[in-house]
Amino acid sequence: MKRLLAILMVCTCACGVGRPRGPMSDGERMYLGKCTSCHSAYAPSERTPQKWVDAIDEMEAKKKVHLAADERALILTYLTGDPAGLKE
Ligand code: HEC
Repeated sequence: MKRLLAILMVCTCACGVGRPRGPMSDGERMYLGKCTSCHSAYAPSERTPQKWVDAIDEMEAKKKVHLAADERALILTYLTGDPAGLKE
């Protein structure tokens, strides 16, 4: 698992084009860990906050993923800047 994380981080640093941020946030790590096993990571800017909430609801409804409340909040914070995805 450590090894996988290390690979992920190297990859993110090496391929994270135009991303002026430092180390991965917990939310980003959670998102990459939970949401990229079946498809590639959609960029946060690809969807509005409401669309992200809808997408996560849909993934959960289709039993693609199970998220605890705190995991969902972390992922939404990363994707939308708000733990409930309420930001405009
Ligand atoms: C077990 C596999 C699996 C996991 C894990 C998974 N997804 Fe998906 N996701 C899919 C499949 C399959 C589709 C496309 C077909 C569909 O809609 O059923 C999809 C489609 C999507 C789409 C595109 C929907 C659209 O209408 O354009 C988004 C956005 C998405 N997933 C986000 C997420 C997020 C966020 C997570 C983590 C919380 C996640 N997925 C985890 C399987 C998964």
